Amino acid sequence: MTKNAPATTGRRIPEPFRIKMVEAIRQTDESERRAALETAGWNPFLLRSADVYIDLMTDSGTGAMSDSQWGALMRGDESYAGSRSFFRLAEAVDQIFGYPHTIPTHQGRGAEQILFPELIARCGGKQPVFVSNYHFDTTKAHVEIAGAQAINVLTPEALDTTTYYDWKGNFDLAALEATIARVGAANVAAVIATITCNSAGGQPVSLANLRATAEIARKHRIPVVIDAARFAENAWFIQQREPAYAGVPIAEIVREMFECADMFTMSAKKDALVNIGGLCCFKDNVELFRAVQVRCVPQEGFVTYGGMAGRDMEALATGLHEGMDAAWLEYRIGQVAYLGERLRAGGVPIQYPTGGHAVFVDARKLLPHIPPDHFPGHALACEMYLEGGIRAVEIGSLMLGRNPATGAQEPSEFELMRLTIPRRVYTNDHMDYIADTLLAVSARAAEIRGMEFTYEPPLLRHFMARMKQRQAGGD
Ligand code: F0G
Repeated sequence: MTKNAPATTGRRIPEPFRIKMVEAIRQTDESERRAALETAGWNPFLLRSADVYIDLMTDSGTGAMSDSQWGALMRGDESYAGSRSFFRLAEAVDQIFGYPHTIPTHQGRGAEQILFPELIARCGGKQPVFVSNYHFDTTKAHVEIAGAQAINVLTPEALDTTTYYDWKGNFDLAALEATIARVGAANVAAVIATITCNSAGGQPVSLANLRATAEIARKHRIPVVIDAARFAENAWFIQQREPAYAGVPIAEIVREMFECADMFTMSAKKDALVNIGGLCCFKDNVELFRAVQVRCVPQEGFVTYGGMAGRDMEALATGLHEGMDAAWLEYRIGQVAYLGERLRAGGVPIQYPTGGHAVFVDARKLLPHIPPDHFPGHALACEMYLEGGIRAVEIGSLMLGRNPATGAQEPSEFELMRLTIPRRVYTNDHMDYIADTLLAVSARAAEIRGMEFTYEPPLLRHFMARMKQRQAGGD
């Protein structure tokens, strides 16, 4: 483990592309923004994108496609069955990951919904669970919809945002062993390795940890699934930080990562650089592959398009390769690290080191006067919008929701605001603007007020909730 941040941190790396087409964005003034936020019930999810200057809500489906991808779109074969574009996609998957069996899906959650019930059907136990370093929200939702329980065994270093650690996405291997022993191996439907680990801050999993995880699972005959949304960013971190892989090409690291698993689900809207699409792929379990194909037909679409247009499969086949380009990854992760370093230099507490796709600001530390049930991460996101027209997203108690059994609002492990950087969309000058805006907000942190509901939806409340600022002195 290296103690120091990677060499690229804090350095501006010039964009490894030039710009062929532009989309105008409009800055608004403070009174316009206040009116727009009021109309949106103080919930950035309910803002119109036309009222947003820089949109950092997600890196999912928000990237810019390359000239090669736009060119590939024109070659899309829209045949219902046996599309040429499907075969091109399946060949790219086999070549990159070594998985010969591909099912396209409309996005990542489409892959989750057709795979998990089949894993549960095969696990043999009566109280099925999935164990992950950390289940992404939709992953957890599909585990629960399929009748199983989601258990996270994340390395404890991830909870300490201020202390540098190379592998904050790692599995806690002792907790993984203990969980399997406690619930019984027959009840574990699968181990899911989320790479990078989004919920911990886009943090990587080392190859040593992935391999050890796979060994534990195999010893107990438990299948291993990779949640592969940000596989290329994870591979880049391995190349930079894991001494055995220094200088090893990204493509070889990716192959080694995927040797640790039996199948993967992928939201292609992230590292694969497309605006829509997903994958569910298998290494050698043909029986399971066929069963999931059967589920694909009624839920996603016929097995050679699975919810994607032929042209989208072409763009994805091209994007999978582009997303692994080393110069691209160095710039991409360097851009996020640059933003993180500017914030740290200005005294803003963030999950450190920065992750691959986003800077996660520690709102609990920045706004210690706002308790978890007054939603400090959300209050901070609203201030980012008022100050500079920037849309960010809360990852904390508001997103966590109430305890379904007691109805109580329990504090989340994290109270974060995520500044998620779309791929190939914003320049380094935008990063400076974002940093300046947050530094201005942080200078008046003590005056920022907590939030309360005016409308609290019963489920997935953060998407549709309406809120207002609490009265001064109310926190
Ligand atoms: N897994 C991970 C790790 C994700 O981050 C996401 C989506 C999914 C699965 C689901 O994929 O959206 O294509 O259905 N993450 C987005 C985000 C929405 O903003 O972090 P999907």
